[in-house]
Amino acid sequence: MNVGIITASDKGYLGEREDRSGARIAEIMEAQGYTVRKKVILPDDQQMLQDEMIAMCNDDIQLILTTGGTGFSKRDVTPEATKAVIEREVPGIPMAILQYSLTITERAMLSRAAAGIRGETLIVNLPGSPKAVDEALSYILPSLKHGLDILL
Ligand code: MTE
Repeated sequence: MNVGIITASDKGYLGEREDRSGARIAEIMEAQGYTVRKKVILPDDQQMLQDEMIAMCNDDIQLILTTGGTGFSKRDVTPEATKAVIEREVPGIPMAILQYSLTITERAMLSRAAAGIRGETLIVNLPGSPKAVDEALSYILPSLKHGLDILL
């Protein structure tokens, strides 16, 4: 199973901040037996995010995990980019992440994350911190595996 990882971060893109969340996703997914086929850092630019998501869908990637850009800042556009490229929404995944994350921090309510399917690729938005990535992935990964099996 090939995974693509997109970090949405203006500072990360400019090299002003280390991309710890994207690295953490790669580490977790590889430990679970997934192949990280592509991992990129992009600015919080909707068009660039959309273009990369579409390129990954056309590059034999079955799961795209994004991190960052789901909050309230004017530059946070990851959910908008995701909704523009998906063909079928999967509202249960952000709902599940939210439900679980609220047991850890009330601030989880501030994430506007989306998820959906384009062709045979599932795209899931994760929040921007390594801690949030750990929490969200640990909760959804077992079910995600089942969903991806059905999708292919
Ligand atoms: N979800 C989990 N599980 N753990 C967290 O620490 N942080 C929240 C939320 N979701 C958090 C979380 C916070 S503080 C914000 S602002 C939003 O995710 C959006 O983060 P982003 O803009 O980096 O994507």
